[in-house]
Amino acid sequence: MSRVAQGAIAAGLGIAVAEVAYLFSYFGPTEGFMSDWKGSLPKRDEEGFLVFDQKFISESMIIDIIARTGSFIFLFEGEFHGRNELLPGIISRDAQGVLFASSRKCTHEGCLVEFRDDVVVSSKSYQKVWYCLCHDAIFNANNNGGVLAGPPPSPLQQFDIEVNEGGKKVKLIPR
Ligand code: FES
Repeated sequence: MSRVAQGAIAAGLGIAVAEVAYLFSYFGPTEGFMSDWKGSLPKRDEEGFLVFDQKFISESMIIDIIARTGSFIFLFEGEFHGRNELLPGIISRDAQGVLFASSRKCTHEGCLVEFRDDVVVSSKSYQKVWYCLCHDAIFNANNNGGVLAGPPPSPLQQFDIEVNEGGKKVKLIPR
């Protein structure tokens, strides 16, 4: 039996909003995690559970990595402009400290979106959003990935996070 991890994990963490923003912007969404894992990234098995080097990734491992680096990076199989590809995704915490999982592949032409505390596009200021440098796109980082500005045709893919009993396996459910 599985349970949805959002909310429960956040309540246990009790991370302040300011600290979340700091971790995100200081380390960047990928660098800390990639150095932890020597440049390799976890993938998903056929049931959607996260695996790395043929071992399942536990809930506590994800929480620990986010605590140290601000984010946990994974790859997922998805369709991009009619092609099946391995796409980059990220697990981190939103402004309320709740874990979320999102694609980082811009839905316009596929550049990697970056988290920004503050960015100005077309004279409008946005705070705590996903930003795509390629064509100045802005996506909502508040757990829905919606397009706020720019040419992308659709939101960033979002996932629900589920853990199995005991937290030994973590599954990402595409919304
Ligand atoms: S590739 Fe992201 S806005 Fe064009």
